[in-house]
Amino acid sequence: MADTLIRGEVVPQRHPGIEFPVTIRPAAAGDEAAWRELWAAYLRFYQVALPPAVTDATWRRISTPGGPMGALLAVDASGDVLGFLNYVAHQVSFCELDACLVDDIYVRPDARRLGIGRELLASLIARADAEGWSKVYWVALESNSVARRMFDRHFAKCDGHVRYTVPCRAAARTIRTPSPHSEFSAAGLGNHQ
Ligand SMILES: CC(C)(COP(=O)(O)OP(=O)(O)OC[C@H]1O[C@@H](n2cnc3c(N)ncnc32)[C@H](O)[C@@H]1OP(=O)(O)O)[C@@H](O)C(=O)NCCC(=O)NCCS
Repeated sequence: MADTLIRGEVVPQRHPGIEFPVTIRPAAAGDEAAWRELWAAYLRFYQVALPPAVTDATWRRISTPGGPMGALLAVDASGDVLGFLNYVAHQVSFCELDACLVDDIYVRPDARRLGIGRELLASLIARADAEGWSKVYWVALESNSVARRMFDRHFAKCDGHVRYTVPCRAAARTIRTPSPHSEFSAAGLGNHQ
């Protein structure tokens, strides 16, 4: 997988606590603490608690060079990490080229509405083009109107697929949500669990 990113700069503007420009780049080993901090905030957003071993495994996969899972980070000029996007490239049956699933995308609340989420996704799409992948895709909660507005306005219309999820026994040992009836657990967390 190429190490360089193609595009990924949020145009300079004024915003308290953020030094512009904000750039998008692949996560590296030295980003572990910053990624973990934002990952914990993302899990709180989804009201999900994961055993530490799951987070450890996710970071290990992300930071394994040449592995199918990766992360892009939005980093300001002072080095603060403002957002992340986790993705996984995988084989598919309909095409000989790999597809790329966006697993998670998150921007720190104080850095929102600056174009960072849009640039994270646009950077992944540019990367997918450079890698020769066939497509970038993701799922969203129907009720997540903010994220869906971003997707609808800037990327693609919903393609009409409906997701079905049957949790398997092994997952019960790895995923915990505060309530089995919460909107998030009922819908399935993120894209993959
Ligand atoms: C969704 C999320 C990543 C967007 O990040 P962001 O950096 O604030 O988004 P951007 O500034 O790039 O905005 C891109 C577009 O999203 C839409 N948008 C973003 N925030 C919005 C809001 N509060 N209300 C309405 N639309 C909004 C807009 O269409 C915007 O483009 P526009 O200003 O040209 O209309 C961010 O809100 C977030 O982290 N949410 C929590 C995690 C989450 O929901 N992840 C998605 C899981 S599917």
